[in-house]
Amino acid sequence: MKNLNTLLAGIFLAVALPFGALVISSQIQLGTLGRAPAEEGGPLFPSREPGLAIQGRAVYVSLGCVSCHTQQVRPAGQGSDIARGYGVRPSVARDYSKQSPVLLGDRRIGPDLANYGARAKGLDAVHAAIRHDGQFAFLYAGAKQEAASERAVALAAYLQSLRQDYSSPEAKLKQ
Ligand code: HEC
Repeated sequence: MKNLNTLLAGIFLAVALPFGALVISSQIQLGTLGRAPAEEGGPLFPSREPGLAIQGRAVYVSLGCVSCHTQQVRPAGQGSDIARGYGVRPSVARDYSKQSPVLLGDRRIGPDLANYGARAKGLDAVHAAIRHDGQFAFLYAGAKQEAASERAVALAAYLQSLRQDYSSPEAKLKQ
């Protein structure tokens, strides 16, 4: 094997270059993103998730909601998300900087939920949406909202916390 070193170097580069391009460069560009004001001196966004919403995120994961719902609003030129009312501005990386795990989703059987907390009309409507005409009725002991289990209460708090309706340095809301 005369060219063994060349072969090994080739294999190394074939692995290292894409890794560097995809993983390390993304980390350098986005890894330090955090909360920031849209304008100097303004309030910091994204807001921190309330504790109950953090529990609700775990419920959302455990029930597989992400298999039917995305949480990413595409820019106006790349789809009809904003026209459909899924969001008021496109999603940007900073929106997700405090979320763990990030639940972007890749299938949209139901509506996008990135800005659901801003469009939901009150807690009753959120609980009605969770029930999905019965699909998740097991989270409730009866028909009334008071019959919501702890999981449903946390899930509703999580859904209400989903908002991308603030200005951020990369995506300012039009005044
Ligand atoms: C099998 C696919 C599927 C799964 C799984 C699913 N959903 Fe849905 N969801 C839908 C569809 C479809 C709609 C639209 C229903 C309608 O408009 O009548 C919807 C609607 C909603 C809405 C109302 C959205 C709006 O803009 O009004 C919310 C909130 C919601 N789902 C939350 C959840 C949560 C929380 C879970 C997990 C517990 C979940 N969904 C799991 C398919 C799904």
